[in-house]
Amino acid sequence: MLFLVVLLSLACTSHSLIEVAKNTELDSIDVTEAEADVTESEDDVTLSQEDNFVIFTVASEDNDPFQRYVRSLRVFDMEKYLQVLGMNSKWLGGNMEKVGGGYKVNLLREAMEPYKDEKNTITMFTDSYDVIFLADKAEILEKFKKTGARFLISAEPYLWPDMSLESQYPEIKGTKYLCSGLMIGYTDTFWNVLNYKKIANTDDDQLFYTNAYLDAKFREANKIQLDGTSTIFHNLHGAVREIDFGFGAHRITNWEQATMPQVLHGNGPSKITLNMFGNYYPRGFDPTEGDYGKCLACDEQEGRVNVNDTDSLPVVLTTLFINERTPFLDYFINKTFSQDYPPEKWHVRIYNRVWEHADHIQELINYHVVNNPDNKLASVKIFQPKDTAKRKLMEIYEEAMYTCAEVDCGWYFAMDSVITLTDNNVLKDLIYWNKSVITTQLTQPGQYWSNFWGDVTNDGFYKRAPDYFELVKRERLGLWNVAFVNHLVAIRGDVIDSGKLSYRHKTYDDNNYDVGFSYNARKNNVFMFMVNLKKHGHLKKMNNYTTEREHNDLWQIFTNPTDWKLNYIHPSYDIFLTKQMVEFPQPCPDVFHFPLLSKRFAWHIIHELESMPGDVFAESGNNNDQRLAGGYENVPTVDVHFTQINLQQEWLKVLRDYVAPIQRRVFEGYSFNGKALLSFVVKYHENGQRKLVPHHDHSTFTTNTALNRQGIDYEDGGSYFIRQNCLVRDVDIGWTLMHPGRLTHYHEGKEISRGTRYILVSFNDP
Ligand SMILES: *[C@@H]1O[C@H](CO)[C@@H](O)[C@H](O)[C@H]1NC(C)=O
Ligand SMILES: *[C@@H]1O[C@H](CO)[C@@H](O)[C@H](O)[C@H]1NC(C)=O
Ligand SMILES: *[C@@H]1O[C@H](CO)[C@@H](O)[C@H](O)[C@H]1NC(C)=O
Ligand SMILES: *[C@@H]1O[C@H](CO)[C@@H](O)[C@H](O)[C@H]1NC(C)=O
Repeated sequence: MLFLVVLLSLACTSHSLIEVAKNTELDSIDVTEAEADVTESEDDVTLSQEDNFVIFTVASEDNDPFQRYVRSLRVFDMEKYLQVLGMNSKWLGGNMEKVGGGYKVNLLREAMEPYKDEKNTITMFTDSYDVIFLADKAEILEKFKKTGARFLISAEPYLWPDMSLESQYPEIKGTKYLCSGLMIGYTDTFWNVLNYKKIANTDDDQLFYTNAYLDAKFREANKIQLDGTSTIFHNLHGAVREIDFGFGAHRITNWEQATMPQVLHGNGPSKITLNMFGNYYPRGFDPTEGDYGKCLACDEQEGRVNVNDTDSLPVVLTTLFINERTPFLDYFINKTFSQDYPPEKWHVRIYNRVWEHADHIQELINYHVVNNPDNKLASVKIFQPKDTAKRKLMEIYEEAMYTCAEVDCGWYFAMDSVITLTDNNVLKDLIYWNKSVITTQLTQPGQYWSNFWGDVTNDGFYKRAPDYFELVKRERLGLWNVAFVNHLVAIRGDVIDSGKLSYRHKTYDDNNYDVGFSYNARKNNVFMFMVNLKKHGHLKKMNNYTTEREHNDLWQIFTNPTDWKLNYIHPSYDIFLTKQMVEFPQPCPDVFHFPLLSKRFAWHIIHELESMPGDVFAESGNNNDQRLAGGYENVPTVDVHFTQINLQQEWLKVLRDYVAPIQRRVFEGYSFNGKALLSFVVKYHENGQRKLVPHHDHSTFTTNTALNRQGIDYEDGGSYFIRQNCLVRDVDIGWTLMHPGRLTHYHEGKEISRGTRYILVSFNDP
């Protein structure tokens, strides 16, 4: 909260400079070239000979916001006018969160000395980290000339830093207080202003310009004006509401003043708003084009990584975090190891804090890595609850991130077990953009709960950005600078090395390690991006998960239906939804055959039943069956009813969601109402029940799903339809026979000669 107070009082003061430049390797803009450009006359027809132009800015570091600033100039072919002052040198302007910035004035004075007498040169000064250009030189100069001023300074609604000057401010049209982050003037006049008085590096620059402006004689002599109506400059702090996305997609508009500002300044706490506008302008995203808008910035090739060139791919470290009980853990681990990336450049770490998952995780890692001779990952390490359970999340995430440096990694991926990836190119797809921090959009299916926030409240928690719904609903597809990311966070190695990122934050509690991370990134000028051009996966719901059973995921169809389908519905099921009745295989007349459940389902349900205490099948197989309402079973089998293991409701949902749509295709004109009283797993065993005598089923139609393999797990057996004189035997796992129950398809279970046969039978619409 302290942070907030400081920023609010900041008002216009740019707060955009870091005290010490950390990166000394980056080239600064070539000043001599820029000078050459300036003194050459332009052959732009709309401009006269006199319109030489220079843009000065002060920046101590070539960071993400600075690159955004330069890009905005490049869009309008104005990069050539830019002169950057103070790059990669020590900041001498004091603490910008309080007062200071006289250093900026002095740097500018020094840089302007060579031009000071040029009456025909127009000079602009802007901050850089929180500024973007929205228009080109011609428009800026034209607007400037129309004001009649020789020196124009931006305006804002807050007075800063000397409140006692309130009464001296002249009344003007629009906003009346001065903000020294943006200025433009004829060079000789600008020079006069810079020499209004002497200023120490640590004095306040805004106060310096304010004094010059409030000096009526000086103001009039030099034709100094404030841009109260946002003719050229708009400061967002305290003036976000006046700004609109504008006339169509094309320009930001100040609707209160009916102007279209050309330079936008996200001063003070309005930075996040500027980040949002910066996604669209200049030439970033056009929401009016196509069904999903057009991401213009996405088409820019410069600075992207060529991920097709395997040899030049960076070393990556992916770290998996299991912090809470997690459904579909196998799938999570499987999909991580399925990512398309050269294994010799790929390190993996796993931090599991959940005791109930410890053995399972070890088994999965043994399967994927230890016992897998093909696996050539650069390194793999698991940290189990004995190492992790008592540690703070902030520490664990911090340690994991800094492991990147230990393995010399070019990219780091933090992945929480709440994510489900459905694509194998996630690593490369994210590396491609070459952003400091990036994630792909992951959302709970059918919900607006996602892994990014477009905006945050003053204390760093979720706040809805104006375009949040368009993004989360994937109605706008592009590359988005956002205020918060979590669950899958990719970070460029050099950004970790810079020391600007951290999960630690003293005001957030440990569960908000991610809130702390984003806070630190925002504070240190590291942009976080979310890309949603391609759907890479989604988020699970974790809140309803218990671990009392062997295969708890079987019970997740209500909570995580998308994952249930991915794991337990046969991969070919969807194809059959488009088939006509005649296209369905019919091994016997009116016995339809289709893939319903996955091999994983078959294995899980058998294993679930066989690993229950005692022999859950043993009590069945008699005519007297206490599990039935009447207590009597005509044609008894050795079986387990889904009601016995509390899976009946879940199974009814399978019938409604997956069986009913197939039924409507094959038994046309009949509509299954989703009822079934008896759904059960039958076990034929060489030393137990080996067959079932001829019978009709107590159903309108029956589904009979193979759970294991004829010819391998058992010999002979099969379903024999007596009137049709037709035997069906080799049904693949998960494939299902669907046939009329009580009328036409008198049938029997043929005797097995060896092994164990499991089938899942459901009497539908009894
Ligand atoms: C990726 O970005 C970094 C930092 O801006 C830059 O140094 C590097 O050259 C970029 N990589 C490519 C391939 O352009
Ligand atoms: C990389 O491969 C993809 C798909 O094959 C292709 O669309 C893309 O243009 C390639 N990129 C480069 C830089 O060659
Ligand atoms: C993940 O599971 C699929 C389906 O069972 C399998 O084909 C694939 O080989 C597995 N991936 C890994 C890396 O084991
Ligand atoms: C939790 O599970 C129960 C029973 O399976 C279900 O009725 C309920 O809707 C689930 N809650 C959530 C939030 O999914």
